[in-house]
Amino acid sequence: MATPTLITVHASGTYDILLTKGSLSNIGQALKERFKPCTIAILSDDKVFPLYGKTVTESLEAAGFRAVSHVIANGEQSKTLDNVTAFIDCMVKAQITRTDMVLALGGGVVGDMAGFAAAIYLRGIPYIQVPTTLLAAVDSSVGGKTAVDISAGKNLVGAFHQPALVYLDTETLKTLDTAVMRDGFAEVIKYGIILDRKLFDTVALPGSFDLKEVIARCIEIKRDVVEADEFDRGMRGLLNFGHTFGHAIEKLSGFTITHGSAVARGMIIAAKVAKVYGFTDFTETITDVVRNYGFETACPYSADELYSVILSDKKRSAGDITLVLPREIGKCTLEKMPATQVLELMKKTGL
Ligand SMILES: NC(=O)c1ccc[n+]([C@@H]2O[C@H](COP(=O)([O-])OP(=O)(O)OC[C@H]3O[C@@H](n4cnc5c(N)ncnc54)[C@H](O)[C@@H]3O)[C@@H](O)[C@H]2O)c1
Repeated sequence: MATPTLITVHASGTYDILLTKGSLSNIGQALKERFKPCTIAILSDDKVFPLYGKTVTESLEAAGFRAVSHVIANGEQSKTLDNVTAFIDCMVKAQITRTDMVLALGGGVVGDMAGFAAAIYLRGIPYIQVPTTLLAAVDSSVGGKTAVDISAGKNLVGAFHQPALVYLDTETLKTLDTAVMRDGFAEVIKYGIILDRKLFDTVALPGSFDLKEVIARCIEIKRDVVEADEFDRGMRGLLNFGHTFGHAIEKLSGFTITHGSAVARGMIIAAKVAKVYGFTDFTETITDVVRNYGFETACPYSADELYSVILSDKKRSAGDITLVLPREIGKCTLEKMPATQVLELMKKTGL
């Protein structure tokens, strides 16, 4: 079996990210090398647990850990405070203490919730991320942002809490629906545009690259950003490239346009806005790659419609909006401007 790729993150906690291919059944051993025997409370969803729950549980038990599990319905609608409370109730019943751990087995929904539960239970216990979607592998499992949704909006209640370990088996991505996998690629393309031209070129044609290597590169980029700005006061904002417009598209569609698909269109809008703002025009370059993945490229909403949603976005502060705009492929900058200027720029793009 190939040696796992190891990436270490030095943030408020130092932790390893282990990238494996086909080694999910070795997770217990990997944990045994790092942590004392304890009880592990697994949070997973009803699509992922039937696929990988047994392998993980048996591997943990064989390595001397006690495993308990709590399974939620799959999908964003499960990312609620009520479900976190139910998971915490399960931890109480299992007599989980500060020396025990939480393990998130699933995509970003399970990862964000398990991380949040671990952040608040007994004022914080360690947790392990086992991402099983491409988005979770390259983005949400690394960096310690945990959250749940409330009726006022997505991710409005949460905490910064770094995991103690991230363990990824890229083989688990093989069971993903095509649309979920493709959504993850929107984030991969994003990393290329914001910080790595070579990565952008590598992934330009779907299927023409080694997925594990690409995931490793994305994680390194995320690690660098998190190490430079763990608490999101500056350059971590670069990760929002395409997201200001993307979130607006997602919301206006009533979430019928998926996150990745909305971000893909949001990146194209950001490129158009950059052009009218006076930067070099990369619209065609970005549109071509986005199209290669089968994403729709046209935005079905007007500048005014997008603007009304952007104004209510939590990222707006004191009447200003910070946009992430490409200066080159592989180099984006944060551009803070009055909200009204964002509307003007969007209108100039012809939206
Ligand atoms: N914390 C962060 O930094 C951060 C960053 C980006 C996104 N997020 C959050 O991540 C969430 C989205 O994550 P996601 O796209 O992974 O969604 P998700 O967790 O809902 O997973 C998408 C779907 O794929 C299924 N699935 C997961 N793994 C599978 C597998 N291996 N095989 C088959 N099916 C599988 C799930 O059951 C679900 O139906 C959002 O809530 C978003 O806010 C967090």
